[in-house]
Amino acid sequence: MAVVTERARTMIRLDKYLADMGIGTRTEVKQLIKKGKVSVDGIVVKKPETRIDESISLVQADGKALSYVRWEYYMLNKPAGVVSATEDGRDKTVIDLIDSRRRKDLFPVGRLDKDTEGLLLITNDGALAHRLLSPKKHVDKTYFAKVKGLVTADTVQRFGEGLDIGAGDVEMTMPAKLEIIQSGDISLIRLTIQEGKFHQVKRMFQAVGMEVLYLKREAMGTLLLDETLALGEYRELTKEELEKLL
Ligand code: URA
Repeated sequence: MAVVTERARTMIRLDKYLADMGIGTRTEVKQLIKKGKVSVDGIVVKKPETRIDESISLVQADGKALSYVRWEYYMLNKPAGVVSATEDGRDKTVIDLIDSRRRKDLFPVGRLDKDTEGLLLITNDGALAHRLLSPKKHVDKTYFAKVKGLVTADTVQRFGEGLDIGAGDVEMTMPAKLEIIQSGDISLIRLTIQEGKFHQVKRMFQAVGMEVLYLKREAMGTLLLDETLALGEYRELTKEELEKLL
C-alpha cells in the first residue's frame, strides 16, 4: 500500500496525473484525452489542462480505473554494483530495483557509491530529501566500515575535531563520531556524520592514511536499515517510520 499523506489533497492537471501514473508521456496522454478516452467521475473530459482533485477524482483511461499515488517512500538495502542515479546508460540504477514503483519521479535521497551497500531512501518527496541532506539540518548518517589500518583513540579524536579532506583547497568536515568495533591491521568501525560530501567517508579515512575496504550505511536520521532486507530488496516505509521522518 502506498502512503498517502495530508499533502495529497491538491488540484492537478489531468495530463500530468496520467503521465505521473505512467500511462504515457505528456504528449501521448494529451492525445488519449483529446480522443475522448479519459473520464473523470464518469464524464469524458477532452481538455488536458482540466484540473482535478487527485485524491478524490475517479479517473478512467481506456475504461481502466486509476488510483493516484502522490508520494512514495521506499527503503532499499542497496547492493554493490548498482548506481545511485535515476537513469544510467551503462549500469543498473537503484530506481530499476523498485519493481512496484508507481510514480515516474522517484529518486534516491543522497548518493551511495557504486560499491557501497546499505540504507537508501527512495522517494519523490523533494522537501523531505532536502531536510535529510542539508548539512544545516544536522541529520545523522551512520556507516559501518571495514578499514585497512589501525584505528586508535587518536583517530577517534581527529575525526571528532573535523578533518581536512580537500584535494588542493582546504575542505574541513564537521565533527564526526567514530566508534571502534575492532582494531587491528584491518579495523571495523562505526562512523556517524552529519553531512554528505562526495566520497566523504572514504576521504576522511584517506586523510588519516587509511583505506576503506567495505562500506555500508546503517541509518539516516530516525530511519534504520531493516536488516531483514537482503541486499537488493526493498519495502515501503511503515507509517511509524514515515511519521518520524516527516
Ligand atoms: N561516503 C563515501 O565515501 N561513500 C559513500 O557511498 C557514502 C559515504
